[in-house]
Amino acid sequence: KTVEAEDYKSIDWDKLRRAPDCYVHFLPPLKYDRMHKVLFKVPPQGWSNSLVDPYPNMYRDTWEEAYVYMPCSNYNVIPSQHDQQVSRWKMIEDVLSEQITSVFELEEAVLSYNQHYTHRWDFNCLRQFFCQDLKRKDEFFTHTLPFIQKLALSLPSLVTQPLPFLKQGHESKLTISQQQAACLLANAFFCTFPKRNARMKYAILPDINFSNLYRGGPDDSMRKIEKLKCIVNYFNRIHKKMPTGIITFTRHVLHQDLVPKWDESTVKLTDLYVSSEGNIEDDGAGMLQADFANKYVGGGVLGRGLVQEEIRFAICPEMILSRLFTPVLQDHEVLIMTGCERFNDYKGYSDTFQFTGDYVDETPRDTWGRKNTEVVAMDALFFRDPETQYEKSKILREVNKAYCAFQGTEFSSYLPAVCTGNWGCGAFRGDKHLKALIQLMAASVAGRQVCYFTFDDKTLESQLRRVHGMLRKLNITVKELFKLILDYSSKVLRKRHHYWETNETLFEFIASALGESLGDTPRQAHGYN
Ligand code: AR6
Repeated sequence: KTVEAEDYKSIDWDKLRRAPDCYVHFLPPLKYDRMHKVLFKVPPQGWSNSLVDPYPNMYRDTWEEAYVYMPCSNYNVIPSQHDQQVSRWKMIEDVLSEQITSVFELEEAVLSYNQHYTHRWDFNCLRQFFCQDLKRKDEFFTHTLPFIQKLALSLPSLVTQPLPFLKQGHESKLTISQQQAACLLANAFFCTFPKRNARMKYAILPDINFSNLYRGGPDDSMRKIEKLKCIVNYFNRIHKKMPTGIITFTRHVLHQDLVPKWDESTVKLTDLYVSSEGNIEDDGAGMLQADFANKYVGGGVLGRGLVQEEIRFAICPEMILSRLFTPVLQDHEVLIMTGCERFNDYKGYSDTFQFTGDYVDETPRDTWGRKNTEVVAMDALFFRDPETQYEKSKILREVNKAYCAFQGTEFSSYLPAVCTGNWGCGAFRGDKHLKALIQLMAASVAGRQVCYFTFDDKTLESQLRRVHGMLRKLNITVKELFKLILDYSSKVLRKRHHYWETNETLFEFIASALGESLGDTPRQAHGYN
């Protein structure tokens, strides 16, 4: 059957399923269990827009591998002269209860309990941040900093329960209040987390102390200064009004026995909305929003990085907290962040990124008190040699990762659409055609619609719409699409040594295999940008 022009239309914008309207079942009451730690007392009448109390009442100390080593633990000690040990928290309390009036005093304070790093950490970016704007400096040292100091010191009264790591290979959840998140971020700001500074080559935890954001040379400074503006604005905002909501972090694991058999799936392809205008964070309300992640969640947010993931974390700083307790993601795992608020607005991308002021996040909350914003950190593979992405094992890794991300763990039978785009196709050098179809397969089997923003790429918009239209019209199933992809891949791999002469793209290959053509859609050079 020939494909007519009208078949290339995407689904209407309004028809994309969004939370909370699309949920058939209501969220069950929030409950603590073995796999779900809740760090506050769940209000018996449900969340009511006021601050929640930590649970338990009194700080419970622990110093074990399964839990985050807390700055305020009694075990957090530094050896001193004559075999004596001094409490590091006492040192932190001493310096942070004093007034800090300049960036030099701030550095001195941070180094006083991080003495090991006195000659290793510089604070060049932090200094430059204050040099740029004297008004900012005044306000920071008189209002913002004393607030962050107090917030950091409230740790033992606000986060009273041992904070478990979301361990690799285990499905687990952590639900905390925005106030507790703020307190932990205030500690990260002052670099108080013990055992998190050494850079071990095979460490499985991302950095959390902000020291890396403070240091650097002229190459880094513009990017880091814009990120510092975001962080400081976050603290200013919560100083004016402490948010009362709740956030959940979920490590979701795709178990081996639930991995779809891609070569047998007779599922039909899902609905697709595709547009070159719009982006995930501004237009993805109510959908499951993709974070094009690093396996160390947050990627370079505390360093030089400033692409999709780092931008998202900079505008929603509560996401940075995931780094405290999320060991590196494995192939069959993702991290879902539910309820993080957006505080900052921005323009630009990468080197042109700029903080532009407050963002007032009006997203409504669910019955637990979480903003209806669900973001999934899904890490694609980085392809040093982009050709390797066509190997079957790599395709399977990516489609299973996408399926793990889209599978859905919450309690609904009618899942919101996935809001995504060129996952793995920027810094990670993937082929946009391949990744778009991989995500389409994964979403189809997961039972979700796809909303795809091509990020200004008009050619991709029209070609993807057209290819999807022809696949749908011809009733192509997931297994058939998978086979088409593998056929293309073998062709590419066969031509390995003449790769750059293979100028047929995946979309062209599919169109011609189906006896169709991409028509007059503009031609596009091969995949990655
Ligand atoms: N909305 C929609 N699409 C976007 C947006 C947005 N807000 N921002 C970018 N794109 P990239 P990756 C498009 O490079 O290749 C980070 O350091 C745009 O076309 O961020 O998966 C992570 O921590 C862009 O080229 O993701 C990882 O280390 C493409 O999405 C690494 O980058 C890919 O964005 C992940 O790299």
